Amino acid sequence: MNKVALITGATRNLGFSLAQGLARRLDPTDTVYLTGRDGERVAQSLKNIAGAKAEIRGEVLDVSMREAIERFAGDLADRHGGIDIVFSNHYTRVQPEDNPADVIDYYVEANNLGTTNMLRSFAPLLRDGGRLLVVASRAGSLRALAPALHPRFANLTSLDDVDHAVCRWRDAVRSGRAPGQAWPAWINIPSKIGQVAAVRVLAAQRRAQDLSRGILIASISPGLIDTGASRPWLDLSGAPQPDEVAGPLIDFALDPDFDEAHYGELVHVGREEPGASFGHVIRTGSIVPWQ
Ligand SMILES: NC(=O)c1ccc[n+]([C@@H]2O[C@H](COP(=O)([O-])OP(=O)(O)OC[C@H]3O[C@@H](n4cnc5c(N)ncnc54)[C@H](OP(=O)(O)O)[C@@H]3O)[C@@H](O)[C@H]2O)c1
Repeated sequence: MNKVALITGATRNLGFSLAQGLARRLDPTDTVYLTGRDGERVAQSLKNIAGAKAEIRGEVLDVSMREAIERFAGDLADRHGGIDIVFSNHYTRVQPEDNPADVIDYYVEANNLGTTNMLRSFAPLLRDGGRLLVVASRAGSLRALAPALHPRFANLTSLDDVDHAVCRWRDAVRSGRAPGQAWPAWINIPSKIGQVAAVRVLAAQRRAQDLSRGILIASISPGLIDTGASRPWLDLSGAPQPDEVAGPLIDFALDPDFDEAHYGELVHVGREEPGASFGHVIRTGSIVPWQ
């Protein structure tokens, strides 16, 4: 059957490289959807794609709009009957000079509620052998949070629970109570934990059936990438470019076999990292511990 792939946030950096890389690796009968929130940037990104073998289509998909995700999932189901590869990659940036209280609403709307809505709408469309991969980060571990906050994300059982936990944190940030509750100042950290929690919850619900159908749902830690999303926050000297990071992620998605231990987990796929907060080196294929 012809393969169908979808990448969110594909108008620059890692998302663009994933779309271009998949379009180069898949067959002419396959389709890659390069999506983004802005029509002009989607059109420009399509023009910038080089060397595609598969058909590549651009679509506007603003993940902060739940109805837009649902509509797009419905359209894809009508056109293709299902989907094979989804990279939920989108990221709305925050800058160090931003007041978290001012940006938290749209940040959570896209990065967290957008991700749970992608999971709700696209997991049911996965074909046998499908891959649903949420690009998170190694920060998406409870170890990055004060222990008193762990119960907020541990033992959740539904995506609604995850949204609720994330929105409680969002409300604390919006009202200025977050620092007093020991939440980290960089809102990326709880947000990534929320993404990983969402994948874990969905995977717990679907595990037996997905494994019997060769479907992998997982979060991905891609390691540092030299992009403007991280540059203001981290020392990126020597960090790889988006194309270099996309290669192993595409290998991971296209590998017909996978390690069942990866199902539902946060898997590091990329360069070896010192992993200071975990006390050991994180290698590609290793699971970043949740707790
Ligand atoms: N950079 C790193 O060091 C690093 C490390 C670990 C994990 N990651 C993760 O890797 C992923 C990609 O990172 P990146 O550095 O490539 O980020 P980026 O350069 O900021 O690109 C993010 C993409 O998401 C799109 N986007 C933003 N809001 C959206 C929305 N509401 N709906 C749809 N698309 C939206 C952006 O579109 P516009 O072009 O319209 O802004 C852009 O195409 C993210 O999930 C990030 O957290 C990155």
